[in-house]
Amino acid sequence: MNIAVLAGGISTEREVSIVSGTGVCKALREKGHRAILIDVFCGDERIDITDKEEVFPAQYDVDASAAYMRSMNGSIEAAKASGREFFGPNVLAVCKMADVVFLALHGADGEGGTVQAAFDLFRIPYTGSGPLGSAMAMDKGISRKLFRECGVPTAAGLSLKREEKRLSASENGVGLPCIVKPCCGGSSVGVAIAHTQEEYEDALTLAFGYEEEVVVEQFIEGREFSAGVIDGKPYPVIEIAPVEGFYDYKNKYTAGSTIETCPAVLSEEKTREMQQYAVKAYEALHLEGYGRMDFMMDGDENLYCLEANTLPGMTPTSLLPQEAAAVGIDFGSLCELLIEVSKKRWQ
Ligand SMILES: Nc1ncnc2c1ncn2[C@@H]1O[C@H](COP(=O)(O)OP(=O)(O)O)[C@@H](O)[C@H]1O
Ligand SMILES: [Mg+2]
Repeated sequence: MNIAVLAGGISTEREVSIVSGTGVCKALREKGHRAILIDVFCGDERIDITDKEEVFPAQYDVDASAAYMRSMNGSIEAAKASGREFFGPNVLAVCKMADVVFLALHGADGEGGTVQAAFDLFRIPYTGSGPLGSAMAMDKGISRKLFRECGVPTAAGLSLKREEKRLSASENGVGLPCIVKPCCGGSSVGVAIAHTQEEYEDALTLAFGYEEEVVVEQFIEGREFSAGVIDGKPYPVIEIAPVEGFYDYKNKYTAGSTIETCPAVLSEEKTREMQQYAVKAYEALHLEGYGRMDFMMDGDENLYCLEANTLPGMTPTSLLPQEAAAVGIDFGSLCELLIEVSKKRWQ
């Protein structure tokens, strides 16, 4: 297949997305596909879009494309300030020529449903959830409400807009310790734990530095897990144990800073319970194709669903690829599987 792997973008997770895209593109090429890597926002002016053979070449240097994407990092702010359209040079043309677009995007623009909506209108086939599911899962406040409605347990919490009156941590019904996160962020950017009222105020200031709305949740002390769902079916649960602190940005992307165990060491019953909640969460948010749900488990083994990721990390050592590997699906086969299960939306 001719596949455009779309990565980069302008979210706080741009670099993570470049790494995911590089991994996916290499794996798909190893599987014999003519996959290319292109930056959704920066595009690539050098591509000659009149020649399909050249757009999806037999010989291709994925690392060189990734390096080109990173070489654009410095020009992004100016391009954003210019107010030009989101899709970079040649991006739509290349995506329209592809048999499918593999979305290796993470974060607000890309994972949040807007690219998906545009592609639906352009009749461009892509991987993963459609606009509705992507948008609902991107918003942690809305996700929490739907989880509750559909019987997926969540930590006590609330959404707070910048201009809303703020009650103290002891008055707001959540209490301390609590965790504050930007409503639509990812990769733990802007997330902080507060043990005191003073820390709570600092955490709000930090989170509001990223967005107009934040989510405040009871801090669940315990073990952390993630559970993937592909085509509505649950995959093995993975446990994530940071050596130090919580699963923040540094611990997510520094090799050796977390111990990841898949399948997680849990009773069969607990595993099944979490998998059932993962599928319920997937259905509650109208996800399609695939998704990965994050969980905490407290000392009494109560489960709490934190959020759903519609385009979870896709480097060969990311969580979902580890879950697939636990049932014998190698990274390249997983990339092909995600394309396969996404076909339902466009066929
Ligand atoms: N209610 C909570 N209790 C304890 N830890 C939490 C809670 N919510 C989030 N965390 C921690 O913060 C991390 C990031 O939160 P999450 O909701 O998964 O957002 P994202 O991954 O999109 O940044 C989680 O992986 C977890 O370690
Ligand atoms: Mg998460």
